[in-house]
Amino acid sequence: MKKRFYKVIILIFTAILIFGCATTEKRKTQKSLYSRIGGYDAVAAVVDNFLGRMASDQQLKRFFEGAEQDNLKRTRQLIVEFVCAATGGPCFYTGRDMKVTHKGLGITERDWNLAVKHFVATLNNFKVPDKEKNELVALVGSLKGSVVDSMID
Ligand code: HEM
Repeated sequence: MKKRFYKVIILIFTAILIFGCATTEKRKTQKSLYSRIGGYDAVAAVVDNFLGRMASDQQLKRFFEGAEQDNLKRTRQLIVEFVCAATGGPCFYTGRDMKVTHKGLGITERDWNLAVKHFVATLNNFKVPDKEKNELVALVGSLKGSVVDSMID
């Protein structure tokens, strides 16, 4: 009876050990979104292309007109940092809170929809695969309430 009990205990421990190793292995092989899209240079290229499209859009260019080149460069760098950190990259975002940054800029729902359209066009331009594209669009989508003025409390 006692022998059987020990056998069952050993069996349970072995099962836990195997399950634990398999989970760790899976975690190790699951790459971050940041790595899957190609790392820092890819993030920077996506942000530059996206900002270029926004700045040349008839309706959206008003947000960037008149800004000093230094300021635009700073904002661009912060957005690269933000996306790098948000996708699991080795960056630390040093900018302001999204709500604080965008509050009062007067960004409307219509502006937002245009921006999302440009973002998708950018991802298509770089032929980002569907899985990663969906993850990136969901990530940006989650920021809507912090960017659209009427949604910021
Ligand atoms: C309709 C869409 C958007 C518009 C028109 C917009 C516009 C702007 C403008 C004008 C600034 C400069 C603000 C300032 O210097 O005071 C800014 C800053 C910033 N934006 Fe956006 N933005 C939009 C969406 C987004 C999205 C989707 C992200 C994230 C991926 C983002 C991330 C940032 C960051 C990180 C900064 C800099 C923060 C800082 O200055 O500390 N923005 N945005």
